[in-house]
Amino acid sequence: MSNEDYFDQVARQWDEMRKSFFSEAVRDRALSIAGVEKGRIAADIGAGTGFITEGLVRKGLQVIAVDRSEAMLAEMKKKFELSDEIDYRKGDAEKLPIPDGAVDYVFANMYLHHVESPLKAIREMVRILKPGGKLVVTDLDEHAFEFLRDEHHDRWMGFRREDIERWFKEAGLRNVSVECAGEDCCAQSSCGDEYARISIFVASGEK
Ligand SMILES: C[S@@+](CC[C@H](N)C(=O)[O-])C[C@H]1O[C@@H](n2cnc3c(N)ncnc32)[C@H](O)[C@@H]1O
Repeated sequence: MSNEDYFDQVARQWDEMRKSFFSEAVRDRALSIAGVEKGRIAADIGAGTGFITEGLVRKGLQVIAVDRSEAMLAEMKKKFELSDEIDYRKGDAEKLPIPDGAVDYVFANMYLHHVESPLKAIREMVRILKPGGKLVVTDLDEHAFEFLRDEHHDRWMGFRREDIERWFKEAGLRNVSVECAGEDCCAQSSCGDEYARISIFVASGEK
């Protein structure tokens, strides 16, 4: 099964799965590091069913939510059908359906470890930022839990923080910081013989 098919298949259960992996504290940390301001426009890349988007809308931002899974976007639309602050766009990491310099903030939670080329994905997220805009990525620190590749279709076994910092700088960001988000991502293997507890980092930079 491809990564895309996997997310189409789990879309209806994703909110429950997500709650078992990590908590809302990750979102709070990402939004607080960005210092989001009401009335601004943000992009949520690899938005899934709208975990980050929900926090942004509550804070009074307009959101462009991008995902390549139709099923994930469909679940999100059902959840937020009464909100007109969200613009849903199907699109891929290497060619986001958003023009250059269009948004004040870009968020990507638990997305980077699924893309083929993290550096290309970071460059593409930087492309859509306005000058002075902020990119905030929350994702997994490097780990050794192979079952996450087989069972959750993770492409990358987390990241070394120094690689993230270098990629952010190579993509042209300044004031780059990569620190602990203060939360772990937890998952049990399907046969129950392995339990992963992986620390989450929050990376930010300004264009
Ligand atoms: C682990 S989920 C995270 C969803 C959401 N950000 C959250 O925190 O609940 C990863 C999401 O990234 C999307 N995704 C994976 N690879 C992608 C790609 N190359 N381009 C766009 N979206 C992608 C998947 O469809 C999925 O919805």
